Amino acid sequence: MKGIILAGGSGTRMQPATLSTSKQLLSVYDKPMLYYPLSVLMLAEIRDILIISTPTSLPLIKEFLSDGSHLGLKLSYSVQEEPRGIADAFRIGADHIGDENIALILGDNIFHGAGFPRVLRDALSDLDGCTLFGYPVSDPERYGVAEVDEHGSLLSITEKPDNPSSNNAITGLYFYTPDVVDIARELTASDRGELEVTDINNIYLKEGRAKVIRLGRGYTWIDAGTHDSVLSASQYVQVIEKRQGVRVACLEEISLRMGYIDPNACHRLGKRLEKSDYGKYLMQIAYSLD
Ligand code: G1P
Repeated sequence: MKGIILAGGSGTRMQPATLSTSKQLLSVYDKPMLYYPLSVLMLAEIRDILIISTPTSLPLIKEFLSDGSHLGLKLSYSVQEEPRGIADAFRIGADHIGDENIALILGDNIFHGAGFPRVLRDALSDLDGCTLFGYPVSDPERYGVAEVDEHGSLLSITEKPDNPSSNNAITGLYFYTPDVVDIARELTASDRGELEVTDINNIYLKEGRAKVIRLGRGYTWIDAGTHDSVLSASQYVQVIEKRQGVRVACLEEISLRMGYIDPNACHRLGKRLEKSDYGKYLMQIAYSLD
């Protein structure tokens, strides 16, 4: 199983904050946005991950996360020269995918909820075609939406419908079998000029090989593509972290729990950041994980 993080887009909706940095490196409370999608792939036990970003953002991200070995990961990098859409990630990442299953997550998508690692691993264990994650929202017209008939059966997925027939948005986390590369190569651009992941999903759906797992109450999903949603995400993370004394999407902690790094390495990583609460947290948990 391989992973891809698509940290594309030029962040125009968030200018001027994104003029000199990548959107995915902006802070969501106490850590860069990119930590959150990376933590999801790590919780799904995926360690070989390709990060795709724009020509200007990629060097910044690469400098920041390097080859990932400090976290027990194998990170590689590819440029998306033009914003050609989410499905373009499977063309760019074809060699990386090879003949393995692939999890794609968007670099601005934040997921959190008790038991999420189990949901991810179960979804991966019986993957055949594609597995999508649905989430009820009050503004489905902003997303890909699972369109259902009057009995609630899934008919199709529609990208940003004017009159959605359900409130079930398709989140930016997608699992596919390796044939997704061939499907992506056949796609043509949509009216908005992009290769749509929704078109891929509908092809699997027609073949009877698409599943949507509904993340219901108890889960949080935030598409952090605007200042308001970044602020909401920051407040959400702040409440959990302050109240419970734990850290959400703490990559070093996940590595330690997974056994990818040992306590000494975790402590060393914390020491480099010891003036920050994040660094202090790493030093504190290194030898006392419950
Ligand atoms: C994209 C997808 C959409 C999905 C959303 C999740 O939207 O096209 O289907 O629901 O990500 O974040 P976009 O970010 O291109 O507006």
